[in-house]
Amino acid sequence: MTNTNSVANQQKSVENANKAKNPMEAVPDVCQFTANNGSEYKLYCRTKQDMDAKTLKWAFKLAERNVGPFYKALQMGWQPKIKQNELNKKWARYLVATDKSGQPVAYTMFRFDMDYACSVLYCYEMQIEVDFQRQGIGKFMMQALEQCSKHWHMDKVLLTVLKNNPKGIAFFKAIGYSLDETSPDILENKEYEIYSKCTI
Ligand SMILES: CC(C)(COP(=O)(O)OP(=O)(O)OC[C@H]1O[C@@H](n2cnc3c(N)ncnc32)[C@H](O)[C@@H]1OP(=O)(O)O)[C@@H](O)C(=O)NCCC(=O)NCCS
Repeated sequence: MTNTNSVANQQKSVENANKAKNPMEAVPDVCQFTANNGSEYKLYCRTKQDMDAKTLKWAFKLAERNVGPFYKALQMGWQPKIKQNELNKKWARYLVATDKSGQPVAYTMFRFDMDYACSVLYCYEMQIEVDFQRQGIGKFMMQALEQCSKHWHMDKVLLTVLKNNPKGIAFFKAIGYSLDETSPDILENKEYEIYSKCTI
């Protein structure tokens, strides 16, 4: 697709989105979700600075439980310091789902950025506690990111997934993501792939 939006315009859109205290405010009905089984969840979106330390620790531990084993099976291994560092970046924004008791059960961490001359909402993490998977929470949260990306005039939602995580890949494909043109070529023999969904 020809991108008619100039790079300068896209950079401006990224700047505008990054200035918003809560970029999700523009997304209707994002604050609550009722799963098919009737379970109800509340959602909030916060910058890293506004996240409490306990929830940030939980987020790291959940990533370790969920995807640590995939990293460990690869050459790159599980690098806790790097992951922790990433989750604590100043630019990190979190969308967190909590259950009825107020406990966090799922989160996505994202940012607005430029990527190869495209404005993107980059989804760094999508993690659901194992007992809460397959209720539609992941799909709901990704749809929220997509609406947010659209609202702030980003070209696409972009994300990286490890090749040895077939369930993760199946999830993203099921909700309409496809290999991005910037995903490493098969000959590059990388351990990850990049997926995206257009939001313009
Ligand atoms: C992958 C993950 C984010 C999916 O979230 P979820 O809330 O469990 O997924 P949803 O219930 O929204 O599923 C939506 C659709 O995706 C597909 N899907 C989800 N999980 C799947 C799985 N394990 N295997 C195959 N397809 C799957 C299905 O088509 C599903 O629709 P259905 O349940 O009606 O069949 C979640 O399972 C998770 O946190 N996994 C561990 C961490 C991870 O791999 N994160 C992604 C890479 S960072």
